Amino acid sequence: MSSSRKEAHVQLALHGPVGFRSKTSGFETIDLPYSALPELNYADVHTSTTWLNYTLGLPLIVTGMTGGYPDAERINGQLAEACAEVGVALGVGSMRSVLDDPRHASTFSVVKGAAGTIPILANLGAVQVARSHRQQTLQRTLDHVVSLVDAAAVAIHLNPLQELMQPEGEPEYAGVLDAIAAAVQHSPVPVVVKEVGAGISGRVARQLASVGVHMIDVAGAGGTSWAGIEILRRDDPDAAEAFWDVGWSTVDCLRQVVGTVPTVIASGGLSSGTDLAKALALGAKIGGVARPVLQALEHGGISGVVSLLHNWRTDLRRWLFLTGSPSLNDFVSILHRAD
Ligand SMILES: Cc1cc2nc3c(=O)[nH]c(=O)nc-3n(C[C@H](O)[C@H](O)[C@H](O)COP(=O)(O)O)c2cc1C
Repeated sequence: MSSSRKEAHVQLALHGPVGFRSKTSGFETIDLPYSALPELNYADVHTSTTWLNYTLGLPLIVTGMTGGYPDAERINGQLAEACAEVGVALGVGSMRSVLDDPRHASTFSVVKGAAGTIPILANLGAVQVARSHRQQTLQRTLDHVVSLVDAAAVAIHLNPLQELMQPEGEPEYAGVLDAIAAAVQHSPVPVVVKEVGAGISGRVARQLASVGVHMIDVAGAGGTSWAGIEILRRDDPDAAEAFWDVGWSTVDCLRQVVGTVPTVIASGGLSSGTDLAKALALGAKIGGVARPVLQALEHGGISGVVSLLHNWRTDLRRWLFLTGSPSLNDFVSILHRAD
């Protein structure tokens, strides 16, 4: 991934019209089951959870966004500080650039200091994983990216739509499932397979489960449109317009994917603690958020991100109280079970 491309992605995510146009994540269709008799005190309600042997203040990941160009070091460092303060997991962006050019290492390893407090997720694209598998360097690649950030897990992103829309894209998806199977076997840490905002369907989740994947981040449609970002970077944007809104909405994904693997992560268009609560009620173990956090960092710095994450935690806590759920264990899946 070229460093100027990664920088353009961040600038477009911050300042461009890169949301979905007519598709939503679907959370507005979900009504949480209000209880007029919660039989508990708000003071006794807690949002903490454990994941990958860490305790989180709330079940949330700031999912992978950046790395590989000079200002990414500041962004990743500040995100790590904010996430460690609240107890939220953090992913770094695609680490392909560091495989091509070791000088980019510090733009990722800057998050390492937070690894004692929160789980850090390394990140590789599925196309890169397949290439490393073909070149028989997969084990070395995984060991390298994991050690660079002291990762508790490695996220492998599926992005065929983005690769297809990207001017310099590599839509080479033959052999990807086999390569993911090999990654699951060889990775020194657990593997999360994620999309980047077009969603993972139940069918794809079952294919992933069949090769040993235990954790899926659905990264559904309704938030950041990666087709949109790449279309804005094309010389011929009109030729690709029809693909801007392609994908499964996040709520659709959750309805299809929950139950296929032990840990489902919900991201793609979560915009509040209420959306997070709805995702958990549909059976996700953890939520994920990307662009809103980048925008909070741009506008308010580290304290802007901390305050956004605190607001999400407060809203989630309110929903636990209003549904009569003393802990997340009582709350997760309340809608999934009722279905
Ligand atoms: C600026 C930016 C860069 C991103 N880069 C990556 C990446 O390198 N690897 C990845 O797996 N996902 C990447 N994503 C996708 C996010 O992790 C997330 O799946 C997606 O944006 C949907 O979440 P959102 O609607 O909260 O933004 C990126 C997102 C943004 C906004």
